Amino acid sequence: MTNGNLVLIGFMGSGKSTVARELAKISGRYFLDTDMLIEASEGRLVAQIFAQSGEEYFRELERKTALWLGSSVCNAVIATGGGFVLSNDPRLIGTVVYLHAPLELINSRLLAQERSKRPLFADEAQAKQLYTQRDGVYRDRADFVIDATDSADCVARLVWEKLAPFA
Ligand code: S3P
Repeated sequence: MTNGNLVLIGFMGSGKSTVARELAKISGRYFLDTDMLIEASEGRLVAQIFAQSGEEYFRELERKTALWLGSSVCNAVIATGGGFVLSNDPRLIGTVVYLHAPLELINSRLLAQERSKRPLFADEAQAKQLYTQRDGVYRDRADFVIDATDSADCVARLVWEKLAPFA
């Protein structure tokens, strides 16, 4: 992809949005986040969309967002929701980076308040199952896999070191 977009994918709590903000600063790009775009256009939070309209409706909004990003956006750093790759090919939007963090780290990072924003993290056993299922999907859909265990600014620098020659 040569449109200058850098797309971050990965599991809930892997730091996509925080790293994307840092990466946007380093690379001189705008920062976008698919959950935030959806919340802004719906006028309600992701948790409310799930509760009031269901997961399939949310996935439809993700598909609409993916089409818009792929057709109309360039030179942005785009953080995606953890399930975005299930029904969209992020490579149609830009160069794709999978931020990989161990589940134990994600568990320790996500405070109760953060978990309550994520309906699919409400049940820890279910989250573990999803994590295992999705790891392969993230790897399949990524151009690069980056270890996201370090702090957000270190991870952003790692990503930029890898991507700068191609971006
Ligand atoms: C989801 C991840 C969330 C959000 C929604 C569904 C998922 O985004 O899009 O709750 O299916 O993994 P984050 O990855 O930013 O938590």
